Amino acid sequence: MTANNWYPNSWKKHEALQQPDWPDQADLDKTCKNLGLYPPLVFAGEVRSLKKHLELVAKGEAFLLQGGDCAESFDNFRADSIRDKLKILLQMAIILTQGLNKPIVKVGRIAGQFAKPRSSPMETQNGVSLPSFRGESVNAPYFSEEARQPDPLRLERAYFQSASTLNLLRAMTSGGYADLNQVHEWNLDFVAKSTQGKRYKELADKLSESLRFMQVVGINAANTPAIHEIEYFTSHEALILEYESALTRRDSLTNDFYDCSAHMLWIGERTRQLDGAHVEFLSGVHNPIGVKIGPSATADDILGLCDKINPHNEPGRLTFICRFGHEKIQESLPQLLRTVAKEGKEIIWSCDPMHGNTYSSPSGYKTRSIDHILNEINHFFRIHKAEGTLPGGVHFELTGDNVTECVGGSLEVLEEDLKDRYETTCDPRLNAAQSLDIAFLVAETLQKKNGLT
Ligand code: PEP
Ligand code: CO
Repeated sequence: MTANNWYPNSWKKHEALQQPDWPDQADLDKTCKNLGLYPPLVFAGEVRSLKKHLELVAKGEAFLLQGGDCAESFDNFRADSIRDKLKILLQMAIILTQGLNKPIVKVGRIAGQFAKPRSSPMETQNGVSLPSFRGESVNAPYFSEEARQPDPLRLERAYFQSASTLNLLRAMTSGGYADLNQVHEWNLDFVAKSTQGKRYKELADKLSESLRFMQVVGINAANTPAIHEIEYFTSHEALILEYESALTRRDSLTNDFYDCSAHMLWIGERTRQLDGAHVEFLSGVHNPIGVKIGPSATADDILGLCDKINPHNEPGRLTFICRFGHEKIQESLPQLLRTVAKEGKEIIWSCDPMHGNTYSSPSGYKTRSIDHILNEINHFFRIHKAEGTLPGGVHFELTGDNVTECVGGSLEVLEEDLKDRYETTCDPRLNAAQSLDIAFLVAETLQKKNGLT
């Protein structure tokens, strides 16, 4: 599949936007040399397994659920925070499985989501201008000259934190924590008493009842691995190309290149130029690739991306993650769906209802409203229904922590509450209760559209 003139550093011949201004090239080269020698974080075989699941998504036989932090943090690096992010994704997956009657492909924005594109290279506070925070793998979020200086050693720290996070996730997903018999355990304390927490408990009760029945007829966790363990994949924005290419390895079985920093990588809305370095780099690795698509995307842009990233038109290879905003999606999406359908391109369409719906609250907090998020999701499904195309997945920024970063939802976070627990280092995330609200809505909407209710 890889073009003949592609190699892990061929992106260097193209313009790379959103790269940090590293103070010392020799330091950066030394770090990348180390990263190139360290063990891969994921295996090619696992990546191929994700690709197989995504082939089913492309055919409408499974559904993609992708979610996690906007930006992982070096400070908030704790077992409970990782565990709670897994819990909330597992809960959402249970709700969606039951609602859609389809397997859910679970992909975390985790174990590598450390680099951020910025709208402005500088940030000004009280008349002082400093380089913007570009994610913990580049600089620190605090507003001081020292903190904002890019430091390549942070790339190594991001690698080791990813390895450690992945280690815990692997232990939890294969070691019994994600066993369906634990379904009640995943309800987080602060959510359990809410309407959605209670709804989730009812669902979990039904599931436990079915498991008891299955146990009686001889189907149990010991003889059926699907009850005891789950497949959980990792993903992040492939932004810092020095890092991504350093972790790119040739698979000994197939001789193909894989970016072994995560199972799935995506290209952001700001770096998806057809002749740019990010598209060049990701066109050559065999991981499933996502591309964020916003209101400025034209039919030519997306057809060009299909040709460059998925020249053999393989199902599951390319996902367009739509992030238009609830007011713009109706203008933009139908035309793009028609173009792709007319050309017969294999695409998974996923909905990111977060990034087109960010605004500033009167007190200056960057936030998002659950109503706008739900609105965009509803439009996404309605437009697919009208066009006769498949809505393949959803993409969220969320956390299991009890934060107050997005407004609305069944626990009713108000704009004046944002200050209470506003902890994100970048964009506002759904808290666990808001994530359940949304999962129930998606399940209900798709049930109706499929005529299941
Ligand atoms: C993100 O996913 O955090 C992000 C920056 O998204 P986008 O590229 O869609 O703006
Ligand atoms: Co974000």
